Amino acid sequence: MAIRIEDQNLLFHLQTDHTSYIFHMMENGELGQIYYGKRVHSKPSYDNLVTREWHNAAAVWRLDHKDVQPQVLKQEYASLGKGDFRYPAYQVAQANGSRITEFKYESYELVDGKQRLAGLPSAFDDTDDDAQTLTIALRDKLLGLVMHLNYTIFPHQDVIVRSAEFQNQGNEKLRLNSAASAQLDLPDADYDFIQFSGAWARERHMIRTHLRSGVQSVGSLRGTSSHQQNPFVMLARPNTDDAQGSVFGFNLIYSGNFSDQVQVDQYDASRVLVGINPEEFAWNLKPGDKFQTPEAVLSYTDAGMNQLSQQMGAFYQDHLVNPRFAHEQRPTLINNWEATFMDFDEDKLLSFATTAKKLGLEMFVLDDGWFGHRNNDDSSLGNWFVNEPKFPSGFGTFTQKIHDLGLKFGLWFEPEMISIDSELYKQHPDWLINAPGRHASPERQQFVLDMTRSEVVDYLFDAMSKIIEMTKLDYIKWDMNRNITETYSSQLSADDQLEVPHRYILGVYQLYDRLVKAYPDVLFESCSSGGGRFDLGMMYYAPQAWTSDDTDAVERMLIQFGTSYGYPQTMMGAHVSAVPNDQVGRITSLKTRANVAYFGDFGYELDITKMSPEEQQQVKEQTAFYKEHRQLFQFGKFYRIDNPFANGGNVMSWEVVSDDQKHAIAARYQILNRPNTGYIRLYLKGLDPDTKYTVNGGSEQFYGDELMNAGLFVSDILHETHGTDQSADFNSKLFVIDAVK
Ligand code: DGJ
Repeated sequence: MAIRIEDQNLLFHLQTDHTSYIFHMMENGELGQIYYGKRVHSKPSYDNLVTREWHNAAAVWRLDHKDVQPQVLKQEYASLGKGDFRYPAYQVAQANGSRITEFKYESYELVDGKQRLAGLPSAFDDTDDDAQTLTIALRDKLLGLVMHLNYTIFPHQDVIVRSAEFQNQGNEKLRLNSAASAQLDLPDADYDFIQFSGAWARERHMIRTHLRSGVQSVGSLRGTSSHQQNPFVMLARPNTDDAQGSVFGFNLIYSGNFSDQVQVDQYDASRVLVGINPEEFAWNLKPGDKFQTPEAVLSYTDAGMNQLSQQMGAFYQDHLVNPRFAHEQRPTLINNWEATFMDFDEDKLLSFATTAKKLGLEMFVLDDGWFGHRNNDDSSLGNWFVNEPKFPSGFGTFTQKIHDLGLKFGLWFEPEMISIDSELYKQHPDWLINAPGRHASPERQQFVLDMTRSEVVDYLFDAMSKIIEMTKLDYIKWDMNRNITETYSSQLSADDQLEVPHRYILGVYQLYDRLVKAYPDVLFESCSSGGGRFDLGMMYYAPQAWTSDDTDAVERMLIQFGTSYGYPQTMMGAHVSAVPNDQVGRITSLKTRANVAYFGDFGYELDITKMSPEEQQQVKEQTAFYKEHRQLFQFGKFYRIDNPFANGGNVMSWEVVSDDQKHAIAARYQILNRPNTGYIRLYLKGLDPDTKYTVNGGSEQFYGDELMNAGLFVSDILHETHGTDQSADFNSKLFVIDAVK
């Protein structure tokens, strides 16, 4: 498995363990896509796949090359205005007003490994996992503009990472109006487009629609990847499901405005474009300047969506997430947010922490409201010094008490924001993002700092460093509670304003990078009003993210199930909160709340001091149970069994399985109970067919093949809850499966 190159005809075959990606140089010097899918043998040429047939009513490259008709060809990174007519991968505006380019193949370079990108989150191969990187150089001679198309194969995860870089080696100022990270032309359109869409508090619900002629797309113009659409999308054959079938996955290592689009053309061919959203973007390339796109992640399998999630998830763990934490078990925690909001004092927090320790939890996280004079959300963002009345004995003393209890200490920040009522605003009103002569639109009573300014990044680094050092901080929850409006930076020229959205996110990455390097043992959890920035750009720095502000168990089932398609469970912060639930007012049992939260980075977010002794005992047992199985819950292979987005939504089940297939835990959740149903069976997955297992410590032994193919009988919930005061609705069951020794 490697990248094979035929030098004579410039054919590039990127082979992973199970996939092949093939392209070549065409007669016009541009690159043509040949094939992406299940692995095929390497050959010097694939004449059959590049056969040309002349088409009527289509522009040709040259009179003497009438069979080279761009609109009929599968292109690798398509140009604008040369007869392709589909959406191009990039667009370059020139001093004379032209947008026409003629890039021609120049050379290639093949190296082992994968270097990180400078200033952008990116894939890496620190463990010599056989990654290889191919860079193709193309040049537009007239402009002196060089384009590098970068491809890295991660053979064992069946992942290809792509990006493009533009270098202005000419003499004229150019302007990049768009630059995709990856383009993929597929020969037909018999695919379902699968997206993960939603809103605040109901993120990443799965939507599946068949492709049709025209453009289907998801994207964001909010300055963040957004609650509304996620950069992860799939293209699956209509018969593909979790267990079988052909599917492509696409994601972007980026946290700002993005666009994932599929265009189905007149010949029913599909063009996928993934990258920074071309709307609200341009980049000036003065002579000598370079522009590097974020990286796109592509993966394929013919073994169903579950396999795709697993291989992409394994890739993120090994080649994207900060290696310091990627494989480390994450602490159980108590967070005070839903328990107190901003109404707390030192004593209240210490009683939480003391109880949390007694119940077995490992980290105390102090959320919003500890700084400036913040008692509600209209002040103090930017004042990253302690709210003294809340901590009369001093913040250092308070945090020392937490550590003395034997707990880790975590703290909330919202670095990118500023309140008008803050010292920072008094000193630096110009640090706020706003267009000249326009009023700035508040959201949650707050405004956005201009992260394109290096002095803002410096200020935040210094202010946060002081707190990190004073508190000997173990964990940071980095929140971002609004989208960007009136996008404009007063430090940039008129000509540079379309660079602001990208420069903003580069500033965020720079601050993350400096903090992660300066404080390597601090674990970051990213957050954006819940899951508004749940993307791979963030995951590079912050190995986990707050999945959603919605902590209701039923809503969380859907959110975590949807999220699991694109992201492994160890990236998902998942907490048990109080009932009636703060977001939907629903009452679910403590058991069901924990049964959902177990399948992520587990914690509690409620006033544990007010719980009855019985409930506290339950919390203690749940925490002990989670810790006992933490490796499995956080890092086990994740299998989706019953998909609520496909089966009417009443039943959901999933399972985690250890790498050695000796342990598994499955959960089945039922939203409403139904009368007089037939016998229920749960079809387990990922077990060793020849191994004998027990379920929940019972005496009956089952072969793995029996549990997977014939299923496990699940008794009627009513039989269990009948006669108790528990509702049979919102019920759940957990199955602990152990190989017989
Ligand atoms: C939004 C987050 O998602 C919540 O968990 C909490 O941290 C609040 N912000 C605090 O303002």
